[in-house]
Amino acid sequence: MVPKKIYLDVDTGVDDALALLLASRSPDLDIRGVTCVSGNVPVDLVVRNTLDVLEVAGASHVPVARGMDVPLLETMVNAAEIHGKNGLGGIEIAQSVSEPLSVHAVEFLRRELTDVSEPITIVALGPLTNIATLIRAYPEVVSKIDEIVVMGGAIGPGNVTPTAEFNIRQDPEAADIVFGSGIPILLYIWDVFIKVAFVRSEIESFSNSSNNSVALAGNLLMSMLDRFGRPKTSIGDAGAVACILNANAITAKQLPVAVELSGKYTRGQTVVDQRPPDLADLEEGDLQVVMPNTIRVVVDVDVNGLRDTFVEHLGK
Ligand code: BDR
Ligand code: CA
Repeated sequence: MVPKKIYLDVDTGVDDALALLLASRSPDLDIRGVTCVSGNVPVDLVVRNTLDVLEVAGASHVPVARGMDVPLLETMVNAAEIHGKNGLGGIEIAQSVSEPLSVHAVEFLRRELTDVSEPITIVALGPLTNIATLIRAYPEVVSKIDEIVVMGGAIGPGNVTPTAEFNIRQDPEAADIVFGSGIPILLYIWDVFIKVAFVRSEIESFSNSSNNSVALAGNLLMSMLDRFGRPKTSIGDAGAVACILNANAITAKQLPVAVELSGKYTRGQTVVDQRPPDLADLEEGDLQVVMPNTIRVVVDVDVNGLRDTFVEHLGK
């Protein structure tokens, strides 16, 4: 199979690091570039972590570009309490000699997309600030994107507020722009994100591997397990990459979705209309709202299928 060309947009981040390792090691993917955005940690640290992780994965040839350092409207609130001060759960890895491109991430994507002959896939694993800025600044490249796989949002409870998931809550306006762009979206929501997990004995065996990428994945997962004292821990953003590698392992539904921009308690929520059509298709009226966009939402996953994909492709 010809490897699928993708661009990754990341806020590395323990689980973004797992996603980078998986995508770099998989023979079915060809990473054409990685763009960095502020999210889990400030963007300069995201760039450093991304370069260092790619080096471990033997992918130091992949171009890395620094992107937006603050959301479109709000100030940045990072997630160091989850990902540790260094963004990698305190795991130290050797510093790569690679440097980021001198061009801004948004300019890099514009240049790359302008030149592609076939539309490509973007995998967005952080706040959507870079992608929204690209769409607003250069709408002419929208037709060059065949799909954006987004990790973000939730149907059930959120993780940073009762209703909102981190990536969308960090930059709700950016998410609104991306979801409304007309580009097909596959939304890998928090509800499924948490399901694809490994237990301690499995993670220990990763850490003991002679394969550097597998060992680093094990150490990263172990840092999360130890930090939160849970019996198992999720591969997080890497699950979104696994979805691309194993499309049979997901159940996705085309659903009306809106990003809540103004609610005091609900800002950043992805409101997903799951009502039966006889209720959802009513005309807009006093109480009835019509959701602006429909996107493909991953509502369920074959957990073992995605776990197997992670192990198999990472170990290549
Ligand atoms: C998302 O937020 C970040 O902390 C993770 O990297 C993931 O992309 C989960 O809410
Ligand atoms: Ca992330």
